Amino acid sequence: MTTDAATEMKAAPSRMSGEKRMKAARDSLIEFAGVSLAFAGKTVLESIDLSIARSEIVCIVGPSGCGKTTALRVATGLLAPTSGVVAFNGAPLRGPRRDVAIVFQDYGKALLPWRTAAGNVSLALEAAGIPRAERAQRIAALLTKVGLPHHADKYPSQMSGGMQQRLQIARCLAQEPIALMMDEPFGALDAMTRQELQDELLKLVAASGATVFFVTHDLEEAIYLGDRVIGLLPHPGRIGVELTIDLPRPRDQVATREAPEFLRLRRELYDFIKGAER
Ligand SMILES: Nc1ncnc2c1ncn2[C@@H]1O[C@H](COP(=O)(O)OP(=O)(O)OP(=O)(O)O)[C@@H](O)[C@H]1O
Ligand SMILES: [Mg+2]
Repeated sequence: MTTDAATEMKAAPSRMSGEKRMKAARDSLIEFAGVSLAFAGKTVLESIDLSIARSEIVCIVGPSGCGKTTALRVATGLLAPTSGVVAFNGAPLRGPRRDVAIVFQDYGKALLPWRTAAGNVSLALEAAGIPRAERAQRIAALLTKVGLPHHADKYPSQMSGGMQQRLQIARCLAQEPIALMMDEPFGALDAMTRQELQDELLKLVAASGATVFFVTHDLEEAIYLGDRVIGLLPHPGRIGVELTIDLPRPRDQVATREAPEFLRLRRELYDFIKGAER
């Protein structure tokens, strides 16, 4: 579904033509329909309706504890909703899928410390049943893609935070995912490394056409990366704002962030978060 079609379907279903609605449903990769989730009787997510199109980058923001990670876990099939349905590619999602990769903030825990960079990437290829003879070439190509061509023999403990996060991304790309689910993946990195990785992610995603579900605390990061930004309200977690980001691509760390439209969106999101935290 195009962003416009998705927004239109959500905002004003009655105004969409039958044909347009059919197209919107066909193009959607991840669909939340009336999704609620409770932990031990406490509602954490309430009535979430959200349709994410193929190749769309959707960023989720909201105050701490509002349910962002929970929503991501529901979208990956790691958690089942208490009520409502999550559909993936038109079929109900029943559990984690091999073609959906998850990138965690805590790269230290995501990587195996006793395997080298090449060994960590190899893990995903082994899991996918790629024959040994093909692996070395695939590993070299993946490490090059994420800017680590000369670090294949290093162990995670010998790499900086940015390098370890690149490695985690390489391992995820080895799965050839159709969707990347990312939970504050750059949250622990310094500002420069963070911006580099944002741009690398956008390039990789543009080349692969993968759909991205990206959780972040950083409002500017959400606007910079996203086709759409969803703001969640807390207690219980529910959608409070949905912004379509029409900034041109490829985005640029200086020009995009200086654009009046970027500043307008930043203001709108900032006001939303201030209100949500009250
Ligand atoms: N397994 C669990 N059992 C019980 N409660 C949980 C569980 N996981 C999360 N919660 C609760 O659900 C709510 C939402 O948590 P979640 O981790 O999704 O928030 P978040 O928006 O990702 O927060 P943060 O920005 O701090 O990462 C919180 O109140 C949390 O305490
Ligand atoms: Mg979280």
